[in-house]
Amino acid sequence: MPRIEDCEVHLNQEVAEDHYRMVVHAPGIAGEARAGQFCMIEVQEGLYPFLRRPMSFERIYPDSLSILYKVEGKGTRMMSRFSPGQTISIQGPLGKPFPLDPHHDRHILVAGGIGVAPFPALAEAIIGTLGRTPEVILAARSENHLLCEDEFHEMGCTVHLATDDGSAGDKAFASEVLRRLNPGPGAMVYCCGPMVMMKATQRVCSDLGLPCLASLEAEMACGDGVCLGCVVPTVTDREAGSSVRVCHDGPVFDAGLIDWDGV
Ligand SMILES: Cc1cc2nc3c(=O)[nH]c(=O)nc-3n(C[C@H](O)[C@H](O)[C@H](O)COP(=O)(O)OP(=O)(O)OC[C@H]3O[C@@H](n4cnc5c(N)ncnc54)[C@H](O)[C@@H]3O)c2cc1C
Ligand code: FES
Repeated sequence: MPRIEDCEVHLNQEVAEDHYRMVVHAPGIAGEARAGQFCMIEVQEGLYPFLRRPMSFERIYPDSLSILYKVEGKGTRMMSRFSPGQTISIQGPLGKPFPLDPHHDRHILVAGGIGVAPFPALAEAIIGTLGRTPEVILAARSENHLLCEDEFHEMGCTVHLATDDGSAGDKAFASEVLRRLNPGPGAMVYCCGPMVMMKATQRVCSDLGLPCLASLEAEMACGDGVCLGCVVPTVTDREAGSSVRVCHDGPVFDAGLIDWDGV
């Protein structure tokens, strides 16, 4: 059950330009959180911004959580000013986690930029629950924007790097690296990143006949399925119309369900 918890900030550190890692003491939320779920963080000074900001769980520890985030606008800029010892209000865990299916012999995580945020927790869950070590395709604009490479190596993951400018790894898009890996029929692909990157990843998976799970982002107001502020279109008709709520039905979806031309 989601709860609202007052959490002490333990650490809030810049890890790359405009990218931060925050660790908070949150025993209630951490005790229930699973990889792929998210939380809503209050970033108010006075009344603004009114809405909490959604953030994935980068790592889930017994009594704390880490959040990896990119400064996009006012709210995340305010988050970057949180200091250790400060108490902040966090609501969570929200949404559905990544399903962990033991029938796959290969798990490939495809991350674009800050889209890597939920994947350290997922890698840990795949290793701990399924006894498999995932491979990671880590893609970003340039070397300076590749995040979590050391963390994945420490977990024993094989990491394939790709950058738009060729400053590290292959000068290629993440989806091209995935196609080149040519995973066999037993593979499961998980992706998170810019919509265009997830759309390309889904296309490769569809060509190769592979299942693909995508963790989506949308601007959110309630975070709890009520306001319909976060709907994205789907390719199938559902009872409530041909759309899903990212916060309540997701944020993790079968990528084949999403109408990528409509998002
Ligand atoms: C389920 C979920 C999990 C997320 N996890 C993370 C995470 O782990 N790390 C991270 O850095 N970011 C994450 N995001 C995105 C993050 O919530 C937004 O970047 C943040 O809310 C922007 O707030 P802001 O006040 O800084 O920017 P604003 O001033 O509100 O907006 C700045 C720009 O960002 C766009 N934007 C605002 N909110 C979102 C959003 N939710 N998704 C996409 N674009 C948005 C706006 O359209 C605008 O162009 C997640 C989003 C969702 C829905
Ligand atoms: S944010 Fe309100 S329904 Fe998803």
